[in-house]
Amino acid sequence: GTVYLNGHFMPLAEARVPVLDRGFLFGDGVYEVIPAYDRKPLRLHAHLDRLERSLAGIRLANPLSRADWEGIFAHLLRSHEAANQALYLQVTRGAPDGRDHRFPENTSPTVFVMTKALAPRNPRIAEQGVSAVLCEDTRWQRCDIKSISLVAAVLLRQEAADQGAEEALLVRDGRVVEGSTSNLFVIRDRYVTTPPTGPELLSGITRDLIIELAGRERLPLTEQPVSVEDCRSADELWICSSTRELVPVTRLDGEPVGDGRVGPLWQQLDAAYQACKA
Ligand code: PDD
Repeated sequence: GTVYLNGHFMPLAEARVPVLDRGFLFGDGVYEVIPAYDRKPLRLHAHLDRLERSLAGIRLANPLSRADWEGIFAHLLRSHEAANQALYLQVTRGAPDGRDHRFPENTSPTVFVMTKALAPRNPRIAEQGVSAVLCEDTRWQRCDIKSISLVAAVLLRQEAADQGAEEALLVRDGRVVEGSTSNLFVIRDRYVTTPPTGPELLSGITRDLIIELAGRERLPLTEQPVSVEDCRSADELWICSSTRELVPVTRLDGEPVGDGRVGPLWQQLDAAYQACKA
């Protein structure tokens, strides 16, 4: 497929980054993943706002204007055969001529954008849900920045996979903050709770959308801390992200969540989500 790198569109196989790129040496960069349905990005402005905050968080100026970003996305979305896609963009602090932790001078950022087909949801997810495991959160103190330094998330997601689970739910100081690649919702007695945003979790664009949809569906919802016990005693657990949408978690650490079946509130909100992306 076609990708964008530093001002040019080119085939993926031709895209090259120098080995001294700070993304490669330090994981010194940020990224976004933006879903697009029928080639239209969902919540584009919220994603670009978050990119702005991530860049500010690592003290890097946005190399492109909003119009530039939108133009690149439109070009890539048009060039791909799939109607539903996931755009991936990454900005690093560029490729200076040596390795030094301090910010380089006179170095332009590296800007890379690609897109891939967004696979339709496996029907088993809506029928049976997925399993998750609780893991101690080993990430850093600025999980609100969508940083490409993802080794902790990689280890946690693999730990879940090794246990046959789809997601690791991360526990910090006794609080379950989010998944390794998703945000978390806990439902008890028809009451929806999600951990409040802050430095310990990524402010998910899908999370914001679910909060809005819960309001429209007149489901009571609060943003407040969630304990391990809240998760273990929940009627329903959901995780969500741009690429996974809203996913019911029906097993936690091998035990059923609620009655172990996909819950009615998940069905209600998933229907609302499917309607709003169409
Ligand atoms: N991950 N929390 C973490 C740690 C994430 O990595 C993600 C998304 C989310 C959900 O955010 P959003 O709804 O804006 O996608 C929450 C992306 C999809 C990824 O790393 O591929």
